Amino acid sequence: MKTSNARRTVFACHECGNQSTKWLGRCPECGNWNSYLEEQTRSEPAGQAAAARRLNLKPAQALPLAQVRFAQTNRLRLAMRELNQVLGGGIVPGSLVLVGGDPGIGKSTLLLQLASEVAATFGQVLYVSGEESVQQLKLRAQRLGVEGDRLMVLAENDLDAIIEQLESSRPMLAVIDSIQTVFLGGVTSAPGSVSQVRECAGRLMVLAKSSHVPIFLVGHVNKEGAIAGPRVLEHVVDTVLYLEGERHQSFRILRSQKNRFGSTDEIGVFEMRDSGMHEVNDPSRAFLQDRSLSQVGNVVHVALEGSRPLLVELQSLTTPSRFGAPRRSVNGIDLNRLHMLVAVLERRAHLNLGEEDVFVNVAGGVRLTEPAADLAVALAMASSVADRALPKGTIAMGEVGLAGEIRPVTGVPRRLAEAARLGFGKAAGIQI
Ligand code: TYD
Ligand code: MG
Repeated sequence: MKTSNARRTVFACHECGNQSTKWLGRCPECGNWNSYLEEQTRSEPAGQAAAARRLNLKPAQALPLAQVRFAQTNRLRLAMRELNQVLGGGIVPGSLVLVGGDPGIGKSTLLLQLASEVAATFGQVLYVSGEESVQQLKLRAQRLGVEGDRLMVLAENDLDAIIEQLESSRPMLAVIDSIQTVFLGGVTSAPGSVSQVRECAGRLMVLAKSSHVPIFLVGHVNKEGAIAGPRVLEHVVDTVLYLEGERHQSFRILRSQKNRFGSTDEIGVFEMRDSGMHEVNDPSRAFLQDRSLSQVGNVVHVALEGSRPLLVELQSLTTPSRFGAPRRSVNGIDLNRLHMLVAVLERRAHLNLGEEDVFVNVAGGVRLTEPAADLAVALAMASSVADRALPKGTIAMGEVGLAGEIRPVTGVPRRLAEAARLGFGKAAGIQI
């Protein structure tokens, strides 16, 4: 039977990579609407096994666990402390790391800075750009004050050519910017499609593991859906980092969403300046810088992102609604969580929010994911409704339950120590 090269049409969700033989309006896997695109695939040589055959790898041998050696010292430790921490203590040789984020958020800038540091300290680095010419890279590098003989740049989209270059030069680190612009000749669908992105990442994974070269991939998050998003790759790679932030604000947060070599939810805080990404060494202080602490509707919360406590300011404004259905709008917290807290305040605290528009904002462009922020959100709304400010020097942390109870949060000593360091003496909502 000649199945090996038979082409097949499939429909793939560009959000999560789920595939189906027919077009679907809504992805049953991730729930997104209109995310299915038609793609051509070939039925056989896909997958990592085929990629490994092409690279002439020997099949792996089983060995006793006791004989497996683990060299922590092998990690490339970085002077950029924020990045080092998010990666779990440096770059692991042979790891495949995905750096996702909205276009224009600063992924290329951060990775060029990383490439330059590794080149200066450890050895040759290959920076492959499928989006920019080498001249454009040079311009960016000049802007960042980056130079060096060991930082090699390559403008290439053909993954076979990139792999060839990687195999012959065996650098200390490779960066592929971006995975959505490279393609494999054997795969018929367009660059950026689910099949291409997956297949390319699969090949790079095999290469990283066999050559021990750590590879960083850039993956654009896209809302319109013409290209496959980073979520398609999350289960393929070892580590997933997301660069977040508001484009018009200067703070950027690098968050580890998945890490086979370290803990998740670690964050690194950077500031985007004209000269590139600069580490923020004391983020709590930075986020509270222009503090308007004794204002009505403002509450300071200590978030615990990964292992690091972070002071952030939550702001709420409530105003009488002019329309029938009051608006609830959030920036930095989950909207569903806000709906729940509004309901709890109405029923349990008898605050009248039914005819109020409610706006909640986390200052500095930080996104809070923990329920521990509940109490601060609730207090901010209550403060706004009552038109009374919280006592000075107060921080709030606690999960709010549906019965209106305040539930304990984790890591209280660490959070309190951080709050005390910045001069906050009163804490609301603590149960130890
Ligand atoms: P970039 O790293 O190209 O974003 P991405 O790769 O995620 O798409 O950064 C894009 C923006 O950052 C661009 O609008 C210009 C700005 N920028 C700075 O503010 N400072 C800098 O030093 C550089 C290089 C870019
Ligand atoms: Mg870029």
